[in-house]
Amino acid sequence: MVTASAPGKVILFGEHAVVYGEPAIAAAIDKRIFVSIEGRSDDEIIITSSHELRDGYPYVKAAAELTFEYLGNRQGLDISIDAEFPPASGLGSSAAVSVATILATATLLGREVGLKDLARLGHQVEKRVQGSASITDSSVTTFGGVLFIKPRLEITEKIKTANIPLVVGYTGKGGSTKELVNNVRMLRDSYPEVVDPIIHTIGGITLAAKKTLKEEEDIGGLMNINHGLLEALGVGTARLSQYVYSARKAGALGAKITGAGGGGCMIAYVPQNQDEVVSVIEGLGGLAMKVSIESEGARIERG
Ligand code: MEV
Repeated sequence: MVTASAPGKVILFGEHAVVYGEPAIAAAIDKRIFVSIEGRSDDEIIITSSHELRDGYPYVKAAAELTFEYLGNRQGLDISIDAEFPPASGLGSSAAVSVATILATATLLGREVGLKDLARLGHQVEKRVQGSASITDSSVTTFGGVLFIKPRLEITEKIKTANIPLVVGYTGKGGSTKELVNNVRMLRDSYPEVVDPIIHTIGGITLAAKKTLKEEEDIGGLMNINHGLLEALGVGTARLSQYVYSARKAGALGAKITGAGGGGCMIAYVPQNQDEVVSVIEGLGGLAMKVSIESEGARIERG
């Protein structure tokens, strides 16, 4: 049996704007998805997991098929999935499960896949299943660390930062990334002269944040501005705002939606008083997790 894992992610800056070619900064988090694979004597692909991971099955199936195409070799597989964070919550479970499946499948078949190819194949899986996706999630889960992403050039650059103490607040229900990306596109089609500058300004925030992160300075203010602009793009919800404002009141230096919005997760930048922010979000009925940056991306755990 081979087990591979890949980390979840948070987008620190630039979600949605990245779909239009603006840069984004995303970070791998210390919560992983594990994919274990054994060969079968027939050519079926059988997937099992704890119940709530069912949303990941189309990604797992597509990832195994794409790996077979890439390697020019196929075989039946028993695949089981396990996760340390809620799936379909905006924390990158789809990309993580895809990349871990590709890595485990290739390893079981005795082949090596370089990280660049792994990220590229992971992105192809997301596009096959969702129709469209930026390279953000597949890159972060493959390479780990904090990544500056320039989608137009398909460039990812690791940024060296101090630890970034974060609290993630999950509303309990993720929004559909596909739908939210589509809603932003419709808003942009209706008011291009208003929405394009917002998208471009989000790109500007990301560039300023890159400098701030490198100098190990406070990113909270920039996160707050980014949150306001995500609200302007229509991807906020009352509950997300409630968590964001309550986290700031409880001591977070900044807080924003992370990922597609419409539910899902927010992040708070909390160098001190993390417990207070956690209990405020839990008091509002959310699931709160302290997370830190994971420097390692996809890896083989066993096999
Ligand atoms: C979703 O995690 C991030 C979005 O920017 C979509 C994407 O980058 O593919 C909303």
